[in-house]
Amino acid sequence: MTDHFDTIADIYNKVWYFSQNYQTTMLENIIELLQLGNADVLADLGGGTGTYTRLLLEKARIGKAYCIEPSRGMYLEAKKIPSIESICADAEAFMNLDLTFTKVLLKEVVHHIPNREALWRYLFAKLPDQGRVLIVTRPYDIALPLFEAAKQAFRQKQPKHETLIRELESSGFEVSFRLHPYQFSLDKPVWFNMIRQRFMSDLAGFTDEEIEAGLLEIDQQNPVNDIRIPDNIIYLSAWVKK
Ligand SMILES: C[S@@+](CC[C@H](N)C(=O)[O-])C[C@H]1O[C@@H](n2cnc3c(N)ncnc32)[C@H](O)[C@@H]1O
Repeated sequence: MTDHFDTIADIYNKVWYFSQNYQTTMLENIIELLQLGNADVLADLGGGTGTYTRLLLEKARIGKAYCIEPSRGMYLEAKKIPSIESICADAEAFMNLDLTFTKVLLKEVVHHIPNREALWRYLFAKLPDQGRVLIVTRPYDIALPLFEAAKQAFRQKQPKHETLIRELESSGFEVSFRLHPYQFSLDKPVWFNMIRQRFMSDLAGFTDEEIEAGLLEIDQQNPVNDIRIPDNIIYLSAWVKK
């Protein structure tokens, strides 16, 4: 899957932007739920191009922030940001790095991690009392206007939030859940361009012809030019109470 992110690394920030308001709301939710402050060291696991790592560092005035990212292309983009420390590693390799941190963010990455329970156990053992993990993800029944086969590809990889809660609690964490329904709209050509660029990794397995057929399907269901995007975001907070 890192291959897919290598291919879109240089355009990732453009195709995954949505809007200023989307980004600001997301940052505010993350800062609140991770209770980020200047005494914290943040590990942004699967931090991609480091955009959110940097914005969180600046907005929450965090002491230090790591962007841990396995795709070399994405990592090289993140490495251009001097204020954060970028490391090319996946979640598994991260566990062998022996870094010290107080807060961990997994934003739109949990579905890529094969051995989650080992990671939760590692994080629980490694974090200090009141240390926190925040998973930002989407519901299994994704509401984004994708074509049916793409939604199916998404569901094949996406863990249900109930499963994640169970895993985290079994590893010793206290857990809370927040669903943030966020609705906005985009011009149809902008949304279609994001899909053609395969902005979501679930789109990577479709040929150009399948993508075009999928866009036709979306077009028929959304005849107006302004396409409504209901993006329901799940925030799962897990914290250590020793
Ligand atoms: C949708 S992107 C999210 C990037 C960033 N967190 C953000 O929200 O902008 C998913 C990221 O997870 C990374 N990833 C894939 N497999 C991973 C793994 N096993 N461990 C850590 N990160 C992984 C990908 O390389 C990619 O950069």
